[in-house]
Amino acid sequence: SPETTTEEEPLILTSLPGETGIGKSTLMNTLFNTTFETEEASHHEDCVRLRPQTYDLQESNVHLKLTIVDAVGFGDQINKDDSYRPIVDYIDAQFENYLQEELKIRRSLFDYHDTRIHVCLYFITPTGHSLKSLDLVTMKKLDSKVNIIPIIAKADTISKSELHKFKIKIMGELVSNGVQIYQFPTDDEAVAEINAVMNAHLPFAVVGSTEEVKVGNKLVRARQYPWGVVQVENENHCDFVKLREMLIRVNMEDLREQTHSRHYELYRRCKLEEMGFQDSRGCLQETYEAKRKEFLSELQRKEEEMRQMFVNKVKETELELKEKERELHEKFEHLKRIHQEEKRKVEEKRRELEEETNAFNCRKAAMEALQSQALHATSQQPLRKDKDKKK
Ligand code: GTP
Ligand code: MG
Repeated sequence: SPETTTEEEPLILTSLPGETGIGKSTLMNTLFNTTFETEEASHHEDCVRLRPQTYDLQESNVHLKLTIVDAVGFGDQINKDDSYRPIVDYIDAQFENYLQEELKIRRSLFDYHDTRIHVCLYFITPTGHSLKSLDLVTMKKLDSKVNIIPIIAKADTISKSELHKFKIKIMGELVSNGVQIYQFPTDDEAVAEINAVMNAHLPFAVVGSTEEVKVGNKLVRARQYPWGVVQVENENHCDFVKLREMLIRVNMEDLREQTHSRHYELYRRCKLEEMGFQDSRGCLQETYEAKRKEFLSELQRKEEEMRQMFVNKVKETELELKEKERELHEKFEHLKRIHQEEKRKVEEKRRELEEETNAFNCRKAAMEALQSQALHATSQQPLRKDKDKKK
């Protein structure tokens, strides 16, 4: 049991992956000496689903907040091409949450509930042959994002000499495929020696069991077979104790540290570069200022463009109005000319008519004069006529 751990901070584990019943749940129960869950995962999922579960472990004076993330359905699909993706996405999502908190003006990282994955226990099937390509691909995709500790599950199902060869083979395959697994740190003198020894034991071959068997006069966790007993905590039987020591006692702090300084840092750098922070080694304040200036000048340029557009529009409208005015003026002039012409014609007509009237009046007067003359003449003539008639 983790009695030397007095951490309050959460340790996040992801138990990956494994074909049905590789022994993930059993090992977790054995590691933390509890019963986490009884339900078995369904192995008929369409895709891989990450299921986090948080536990508060309390043992005497030890308090440990532990989150176990199970990759439900890993390796169960017929097409396994994208099996790693949900796991990568999940890890990234936790990094993203942390980054968002870090970028806030009012950061509260002190009481931030950190959900970043600190370690990935990668369960390898004890075939004795070689790693499956799914395992290699997945580990390759994960190695820059999380501390991978590969473990050979159900190590009691493989013979001692086979196990030795299997371990060498696995390490060879990891190296030749460029997969970077977590190395127990050897730079701190206090743990350098033990960590160096432990690095040589990787991948740990583990056995899990929640069953207790009487060995001698002691009850120990073990798996009992017709031919004998495999003791979980016996270092001659398997590497369970090594795993527990390394994970919970010796290197828990380093796992956290590596998660932050290596994996998260890489994520952060890529993300900030994506966001346009070119020189992530430079001062963030400077980069921010430069970005701000760039943004402001861009804003100014846009504003100027808008203003120019507005001015042009106004000018255009002004021209249009002027043109309309000119047209109206022309029309007016034209009408005025027509009107004057008409007026002139009417005046002429009036003059003509006046002249005609005058002429008419003259003729009329002449006629009247003539008429009166004639009348006068005829008033004497009838006598003559009468005389003539009488003749
Ligand atoms: P899922 O959650 O369904 O994917 O399964 P799991 O990976 O959690 O496996 P689980 O721990 O439920 O174990 C499945 C079976 O394997 C059980 O019958 C366990 O008793 C057995 N088992 C677990 N660990 C070991 C081990 O180290 N050796 C052997 N031989 N059997 C084991
Ligand atoms: Mg399980």
